[in-house]
Amino acid sequence: MSNVVLEKVSRSFGSFVAVDGVDLRVNEGEFVTLLGPSGCGKTTTLRMVAGLEQNTGGRISIGDEIVSDATRGLFVPPERRRLGMVFQSYAIWPHMTVFENVAYPLRVRRRSNAEIREQVTRALRLVEMEAFAERPAPALSGGQQQRVAIARALVFEPKVLLLDEPLSNLDAKLRLQMGDEFRAIQKRLGMTSLYVTHDQSEAMALSDRVVVMHGGRIQQIGAPEEIYRRPANPTVAAFFGTPNLLEANVEGCARIDDRRVRLDVVGRGWRGSCEAADEVRPGQVVTVMVRPEDARIAADGAANDQDLRWAGRIAHTVFRGPTRSIVVETEDGPMNVDAPSTGHFAVGDNIVVVAPQRAAWAVEGQRAAR
Ligand SMILES: Nc1ncnc2c1ncn2[C@@H]1O[C@H](COP(=O)(O)OP(=O)(O)OP(=O)(O)O)[C@@H](O)[C@H]1O
Ligand SMILES: [Mg+2]
Repeated sequence: MSNVVLEKVSRSFGSFVAVDGVDLRVNEGEFVTLLGPSGCGKTTTLRMVAGLEQNTGGRISIGDEIVSDATRGLFVPPERRRLGMVFQSYAIWPHMTVFENVAYPLRVRRRSNAEIREQVTRALRLVEMEAFAERPAPALSGGQQQRVAIARALVFEPKVLLLDEPLSNLDAKLRLQMGDEFRAIQKRLGMTSLYVTHDQSEAMALSDRVVVMHGGRIQQIGAPEEIYRRPANPTVAAFFGTPNLLEANVEGCARIDDRRVRLDVVGRGWRGSCEAADEVRPGQVVTVMVRPEDARIAADGAANDQDLRWAGRIAHTVFRGPTRSIVVETEDGPMNVDAPSTGHFAVGDNIVVVAPQRAAWAVEGQRAAR
């Protein structure tokens, strides 16, 4: 297995810049996910690593080898990059058996029959599909077809595995199951994997690190919890779930430790403290993120001194099984709260939304459009 390094990688189509100066290192054995809204440049980035698309700027290396360098006009074609690929449409061939589908990359590489039998059997065993070897490919469920596609990508022992929305054709339950299975295989084999999805929870569940992209640029790279709890800017904050993003002015700033500062802030109809990554000058505008699951509703306003509070009125509620989503009208606009579904809240009730200071995270800049 190898690492993958992208240095200032760009791709333009005419005057349109689809991928803009991407710097990224995927370490050996690491599972890294490109995540972002439709059109942000995920597939284009993956295709440039694969060699299916040529970068118009920057340099890409796989292991010790530079596979593409725009300034030197160097370009290694896809078949010489030794990459396994799995795409959204699994593209397993309907006229072939499972065995022949998985054997295909080896036949192209003119391996011997004995070698093919051994490697295909091993790849099918990895994805627990050896019992299906002689089945015609169409006589498989979506999840089974997906496993065949993964076996086919693994069979020639690629240096790196590239996957573009490989689970998006599956139903929700199978998607979870296949995601977990794939992650287990990936860990067991220590495969360097670059994965593309626009599904936030899939990215969170599978990845060692997540790369959030927007408009062709990297917004943030970090472990899933880091990205979720400590977004770097309003765009990343707004991307995950339905956070409350409240504009506020900074009045004071004090360092807590080397990773956090405490900010005293004033919003529209509320004031309090929150945390942030870097020092912010008083007078600056920040966006304070409060996740719905970190907020609660206090009928009588009961709260710690340090908690943040917003007075409001319940506008509507939605029962979601384990939780109840509650929208509260406040002076600062609507706020989302995820409450336990056992609680009783009536539309029109005057209540107080409460959130602990440590669950409020501030980023510099204005709130992104929702
Ligand atoms: N061959 C092409 N010619 C012109 N524009 C292109 C071409 N390929 C991609 N683009 C544009 O580049 C941008 C990025 O496309 P890309 O397919 O990388 O997005 P994506 O992040 O994978 O989106 P999705 O989640 O919808 O798959 C889009 O605006 C797309 O229209
Ligand atoms: Mg795509």
